[in-house]
Amino acid sequence: MTDGRGASRADVPLTSVEIARVGDLLYRWTGMIFGENKRYYIERRIADRMGRTGLSSAAEYIALLGSHLEEREALINAFTINETYFYREEHQLAALSNDILPELVRVRRPGDLVRIWSLPCSTGEEPYSIALWLLENWGLVDAYNIEIVGSDIDTQALAKAREGYFAERSLARLPTTVKQAYFEAEHRHRRRIIQDIRESVRFSPANIVDSADMARQGKFDVILCRNLLIYFDDAARLMAANNIHDCLNPGGFVCLGHSESMGRISNRFTLTRLPDAIVYRRD
Ligand SMILES: C[S@@+](CC[C@H](N)C(=O)[O-])C[C@H]1O[C@@H](n2cnc3c(N)ncnc32)[C@H](O)[C@@H]1O
Repeated sequence: MTDGRGASRADVPLTSVEIARVGDLLYRWTGMIFGENKRYYIERRIADRMGRTGLSSAAEYIALLGSHLEEREALINAFTINETYFYREEHQLAALSNDILPELVRVRRPGDLVRIWSLPCSTGEEPYSIALWLLENWGLVDAYNIEIVGSDIDTQALAKAREGYFAERSLARLPTTVKQAYFEAEHRHRRRIIQDIRESVRFSPANIVDSADMARQGKFDVILCRNLLIYFDDAARLMAANNIHDCLNPGGFVCLGHSESMGRISNRFTLTRLPDAIVYRRD
């Protein structure tokens, strides 16, 4: 069965050894854990990629991954889980404008650079939320040079982020006034975020478990790393925590997702209870 683009939609039965091999490659490249318990998820995606590459055996496809960087990237893009939406965990945005930024700029001068990193940013809702939230809720937003960067391992998600079209579902938590002020009118059930906001966020690929890749992005004052560590095991979490640590300026802040905690992963951060959120700080 094909979907009209040449991709097979029938599952390809993989042997246990092939499942383990795909899981091992994905773990080494991304930190995400896939194994026998995700067999169905793995088989669907391998079948789709085999259809697109025109290969008929899983063994051949897995061998291709060893040498073909573009196919490796396509495979990673196919396995990522990109769930996100605007103003997700809004209390952390409140912590950013009420406590984190005021604390950071206490020792800076007007015009100084403040760098905020949304990693992973998926299709862009998180870094754009930061831009909208600060415009709406932080009186000093124009007094400092705020740089917002969005990064993800998924290059297809980043392309969507740059385009800036969003389904209504993704905007559901935004106040109507914010939708009216910062989004174009709805067209085919999607709305595009306005050019000014699109240009206020820079998107750049990054792999959180690759220290060289991370170091290339420079140092940040705040890193939002939300809803990614849940897909990792302890070893990958530690690698991610160390890379985040090394990308933070001293005194910089980390915000994790609501079900994630640095406590069990690393002791290189200080837990800080703010009125709106629990965050972590580089000593
Ligand atoms: C569930 S989304 C979270 C998006 C956003 N932070 C939020 O909370 O709404 C998880 C994202 O992590 C990305 N991801 C997975 N492994 C990664 C890695 N090793 N480095 C960077 N991003 C990764 C995926 O591509 C996906 O877009």
